[in-house]
Amino acid sequence: METIFSGIQPSGSLTLGNYLGAMKQFVELQEDYDCYFCIVDEHAITVPQERLKLRNNIRELAALHLASGIDHNKATLFIQSEVPAHTQLGWIMQTQSYIGELERMTQFKDKSAGKNAVSSALLTYPPLMAADILLYNTTLVPVGNDQTQHLELTRDLAERFNNKYNDIFTVPQIKVSEVGARIMSLQEPTKKMSKSDQNQKATIYMLDEPKRIEKKIKSAVTDSDGVVQFDKEKKPGVSNLMTILASCTNLTLDQIEEKYQGVGYGQFKQDVADAVVATLKPIQDRYHEIIDSQELDDILDHGAEKASRIANKTLAKAKKAMGLGRVKKRK
Ligand code: TYM
Repeated sequence: METIFSGIQPSGSLTLGNYLGAMKQFVELQEDYDCYFCIVDEHAITVPQERLKLRNNIRELAALHLASGIDHNKATLFIQSEVPAHTQLGWIMQTQSYIGELERMTQFKDKSAGKNAVSSALLTYPPLMAADILLYNTTLVPVGNDQTQHLELTRDLAERFNNKYNDIFTVPQIKVSEVGARIMSLQEPTKKMSKSDQNQKATIYMLDEPKRIEKKIKSAVTDSDGVVQFDKEKKPGVSNLMTILASCTNLTLDQIEEKYQGVGYGQFKQDVADAVVATLKPIQDRYHEIIDSQELDDILDHGAEKASRIANKTLAKAKKAMGLGRVKKRK
């Protein structure tokens, strides 16, 4: 069976973008792949985090995976900082990364722009991400399209290591979903929807109450054409709502255009809101049942144990290939 790895940062409450771009795919893929889903808390601390908030976000994110339909009998769910091999291989992958290529990463440029005190870990974030993936002999990584640059680098680093030392790592493929790979801000639809947006109206959180979701979608920025048509350049707001509707229902973008011919934005927005609520409400109900359960802890304990077993084997191979440590003398 082929292996999937993906990670989500507990750097804030999860958004509809995270769900439609990543988590929804995870649930489908667990049927056919050996899956590892990781709460990447060590990535989250590359920017300052408040300790109690971080701890809550980690648990919330774990519970949301299960509430969305991740089945612990099919997939391994765990917390990155509970599997030390991640930072250990992360260090090794830093030795294979060039400062220039790390400085070219869009995420680094965006997050460091205009700041004078940026952690060095923000720069070395991608080698840790490469380590996450390579530890599990991953063949496929499902992500939203903002992560493709990091994944190209992961592939380069794996190939660079394999060429220099030994063929230790599997070079992974990238999987971006066709619809929903980039959900945009509701207020500035040329920007991606993000956990860290200061404008609360721009982002739908997975745990937002139905009334709030409806309000946010109704006040989403559109245009004055009154035509429901997919055109990312000229009609980014409407196109984003169409993408959300398509991802939350089984309708294609063409079918949506047809359905809303001659119908105003009012009805269209109401239907988008209803579809989002119908998608998120059952997840929210399950979330509330799981969040304080001991079962959640048991699943995460078990996940960390299983992940460690696999990860330690790959780490040992990589260390040996590089000549780290020693070979014991036997009498
Ligand atoms: P993060 O935590 O920013 O996002 C988690 C996943 O959600 C996707 N995503 C989106 N998809 C569609 N529309 C959006 N507006 C949107 N915003 C986010 C992301 O593409 C991602 O798939 N560096 C990663 C975390 C990571 C990781 C990994 C991912 C660490 N190690 C190994 C894959 C494999 C990140 O910051 O994702």
